Amino acid sequence: MNLKSELSKIFKKALIDSCVSFDHDLGIKKSSKNQKSDYQVNGLINISKKMHIDPYELSNKIILKIKKKKFHKKIEIIKPGLITIILSKKWLEEKAEKMFSCSRLNIVNTKKPKTIVVDYSSPNVAKEMHVGHLRSTIIGDVLVRVLKYLGHKVIKVNHIGDWGIQFGMLIAFMLEKKIDFKEKIDLKKLEIFYQKAKKKYEINNNFARKSKNFTCLLQKKESFCIDIWKKIVDITVKYNQEIYKKLNVSLLLKDVKGESQYNDHLRSLVKDLIKKNIAVKKNGSIIVYLNEFKNRNGKTMGVIIRKKDKSYLYSTIDIACLKYRCQTLLADRIVYYTDSRQEQHLKQVTIIAKKAGYVPLNVLIEHHVFGMILSKKKQPFKTRTGDNIKLTTLINKAIEKSTKIIKEKNPKISKKELNNYAPIIGIGALKYFDLSKNRNNNYIFDWEQILSFEGNTAPYIQYAYTRIISILKKSKLHKLNIKEKICLKKEIEKKLIIQLLEFEEIILNISKHGKPHIMCLYLYELSSIFSSFYETCPIIFAKKKKIFLSRIKLSILTSKVIKKGLNLLGIKTIEKM
Ligand code: ARG
Repeated sequence: MNLKSELSKIFKKALIDSCVSFDHDLGIKKSSKNQKSDYQVNGLINISKKMHIDPYELSNKIILKIKKKKFHKKIEIIKPGLITIILSKKWLEEKAEKMFSCSRLNIVNTKKPKTIVVDYSSPNVAKEMHVGHLRSTIIGDVLVRVLKYLGHKVIKVNHIGDWGIQFGMLIAFMLEKKIDFKEKIDLKKLEIFYQKAKKKYEINNNFARKSKNFTCLLQKKESFCIDIWKKIVDITVKYNQEIYKKLNVSLLLKDVKGESQYNDHLRSLVKDLIKKNIAVKKNGSIIVYLNEFKNRNGKTMGVIIRKKDKSYLYSTIDIACLKYRCQTLLADRIVYYTDSRQEQHLKQVTIIAKKAGYVPLNVLIEHHVFGMILSKKKQPFKTRTGDNIKLTTLINKAIEKSTKIIKEKNPKISKKELNNYAPIIGIGALKYFDLSKNRNNNYIFDWEQILSFEGNTAPYIQYAYTRIISILKKSKLHKLNIKEKICLKKEIEKKLIIQLLEFEEIILNISKHGKPHIMCLYLYELSSIFSSFYETCPIIFAKKKKIFLSRIKLSILTSKVIKKGLNLLGIKTIEKM
């Protein structure tokens, strides 16, 4: 239940009762801060245009139908046909009471669970994850958490890049240098081997030939190649797992389903595409021509799915992967979190898979793109030497910085507490800063803002949470069953409850669009409203017990919503700060 959906129900019924056919958007919105009303309906103007009737007349008709309902204190039409609503306190009190007694905080458990594949993080093997993986990893994880909470069957997939020529290069290099896996090889070392192997591949024909040969042997599952490959993959995924754990990202080892897993299906897939007249042979390669894509000269673009040397490509794997997700996993919806550079690739593979009939018409395929992280100079965020900044470096720096801040604020803090709080605050702040930005845009990375206790930041919200907890502790009431009902005396209390009753709408919105910044803004506004409420409405020192208990209830509800909201963002709370 949320206010928008409740009002929608009321207005939809009124429209139908007024004999207006219903498939239009009512445009129900919370009014902005400086307006006198609480909600408004601004879709009637459009609806009346489509129906060729006067918007004022339609609004009047609607108002007559709902006048007697108890949800509003005042309802007005602003010409030509905007309806503004001041909600009734009593009605809001009832809704608030319901939310208070609901363990799910009014959030629906979907009646129609869908199978949804979320493809996120998906780094390449033999390389450390870098800053470019942050957004995919943490935004994808928010969608996973939200969809799960709503009751969907979510299949998390870490589609790692664990197949292809880079393994041929690595195998050739490691054999040549007689590198023994018995000595400890970590991901850092592996990445150095990979860089050296790549350089050699580019300049040394003999080495390149060898690498291609090993790639072929690997594809044919030659056991010594598979052995080395497995070790390389193992080192990488275990290392990444540590990072996910530190980042509080829900991906597990069992969610790894990389490119290699589709290897056995590629041959028959290409055959099938030829049989269906979707792919053709040209100069030894196998290509799918797509009219939907033209190159600069206006010629139809081709997607190669098998090279002359009979090797397959990233695209071939993604087509096979789509087929698997639709036909074996029975996905209703597939969401990819990769940056915008893969937009064309994903569009192409989707069209091919659809043409081949691998993707049923009703399956939704979505690419949730995101912008880049930039330095203060608005350049891609890199190290001084121009390398990508590793995710581990960012994480360590976040913890280091939060440790310093906590120590400054609480010189007497114990080591145990410090070690406990520093990652929660540091990593929470790092994640929140990213999540609070609209994913479509680039943003500028700035440690000062990230760890600030002011504004739309994690520390501000975590701190607001600890303040409420401390009020509740002082009142010694937070665990008791309070029989007294919520009553809204002051305007700010009404504002607070309206904000709380919006929670489900925010969650449903994220489940559709995968944009966590909406939740961040929501929590920031909620924390600010609570702060004004706390300043203007005495809680512990309220004159009447009834009011004291009502305000305690509002505080409990706010703390629960903040905790759940942060939890859905993958950010932890602490009880004192
Ligand atoms: N490994 C790829 C990369 O690092 C991302 C994979 C995204 N998922 C997919 N099914 N193509 O760019």
